[in-house]
Amino acid sequence: MALSFRLQQLLDRCQPGLPLWDLCCDHGLLGLQALTSGLFPEVVFNDAVAHVLEPLREQLGDFDNARVVHSFAEDIGEPLTGNLVLAGIGGEKIFKILSRHLEAGRLHAHNIVACPEKHADWLSQQTLDGYALKEISTIPHNNGTRHIFVFSAISN
Ligand SMILES: C[S@@+](CC[C@H](N)C(=O)[O-])C[C@H]1O[C@@H](n2cnc3c(N)ncnc32)[C@H](O)[C@@H]1O
Repeated sequence: MALSFRLQQLLDRCQPGLPLWDLCCDHGLLGLQALTSGLFPEVVFNDAVAHVLEPLREQLGDFDNARVVHSFAEDIGEPLTGNLVLAGIGGEKIFKILSRHLEAGRLHAHNIVACPEKHADWLSQQTLDGYALKEISTIPHNNGTRHIFVFSAISN
């Protein structure tokens, strides 16, 4: 199934060859497309709501490089690596999730792709230690626009 324009734009900004975390995934369409593309060695689906993950668990049956993490994204207790996608939640929540992992020493992602549904201006004013804001793009979405943020790990 073809992705929506917004989700395809987000997936296009993920780096193949690295794990992909679809945080706050809901239906998990982006992660499913990443998985079937075969371009990502592992795809992790996360959402705080158990029942949205049940259909996903069934769809993942045939894949041994996919897993589901039922948790608030900020409470995931393992290192976040590779690509992180955070979309369809507010900019303040996106920053809270990233900050929580940064403070806990668990933020090891190379590439963070974020698309807030609100508070994008606020997010654009924030800084994330160890990351550079590589891109902010504006895309059409429904009758309005959304902004895509790409943060890149600064390698020392
Ligand atoms: C509007 S959907 C976005 C789905 C998808 N990421 C997208 O952009 O199309 C928002 C999802 O975020 C989940 N969510 C909200 N806050 C969360 C949190 N702190 N941790 C994990 N999931 C969360 C909700 O349960 C819901 O499924």
